[in-house]
Amino acid sequence: MPLAEHLGPVRPYLDELIDRHPGGALRVLPTPVRYEFAANWKVSWDNAADGIHATFAHRSYNLLGKEAETDTVLARNPAATPMVSRAFPRGHSVVDQRPGIPDGPWATMRPLPTSDELVAALQERGESHLLDLATGSMLNVNVFPNLIFVGNQLMVVEPVAVDRTRVTMYLVLAPGAPEEVDLLRLRVDEDFVSFGTPDDLEMFERVQTGLAIEEDEWIDTSRGAALDVVEQNGADDGADDGGTAVEEAARRYGEIVRGDIATEAPVRGYLREWTRLMTEPAELTGRRGVPERERV
Ligand SMILES: [Fe+2]
Repeated sequence: MPLAEHLGPVRPYLDELIDRHPGGALRVLPTPVRYEFAANWKVSWDNAADGIHATFAHRSYNLLGKEAETDTVLARNPAATPMVSRAFPRGHSVVDQRPGIPDGPWATMRPLPTSDELVAALQERGESHLLDLATGSMLNVNVFPNLIFVGNQLMVVEPVAVDRTRVTMYLVLAPGAPEEVDLLRLRVDEDFVSFGTPDDLEMFERVQTGLAIEEDEWIDTSRGAALDVVEQNGADDGADDGGTAVEEAARRYGEIVRGDIATEAPVRGYLREWTRLMTEPAELTGRRGVPERERV
């Protein structure tokens, strides 16, 4: 199907990620970080929209923040913040942390190598407002089945085997911004990938080990179901558009489920889509035989 149709209601969120860059210009750095883990690709998808694991799975990362007397987003109680999670048709989801960080993304950052000089340079030129552009948007956009936009990184998830997955993380730069912004992005990018991602990888492999236990046949993914709100008739998403993007999307594409960031609505949503794809006959179109011009 056409890309716009596949994206559906997640498209306005992608637009937001792009439009925050001056001139709408993005540069994908052609030197990605690659890693593999010994678990099914779906555990990374479970992780992508899960706000509840961060407090304990990333405890060491959070403690690093505490050492610097910096309150990180992850150190807070995820279910008690005004952050929002949304599950869309076709398995897409977003986690919007912005309502939980009124002081803006940069205020959540701890000091990083060389960041003092870069920040000072921006401040001297009266460009402190660009510091929020140096961090991620605090809007995670997960495009089913394999594209995750988190922070300023594009993650591509590739299944290698039933118990092996390859992830490629591309850093996205802002060529329309002063170079200090991109240099800070490099430092911000290293921070979580170095001190947080290893936690997730450890969890992924432990989950896979747990899944292999035959006696445990089922996984409960009902968390949040009783509290989730179905936005079928549209609702204000807090964006400047007065909620029209969500309303329009709900009208055109059907059910959008909103919850706090501890809900498993995104997990239920993508598994529903995965099940549909795995069980419905594929719509294949093609032509039999060799095209006329290639016949001899
Ligand atoms: Fe994580």
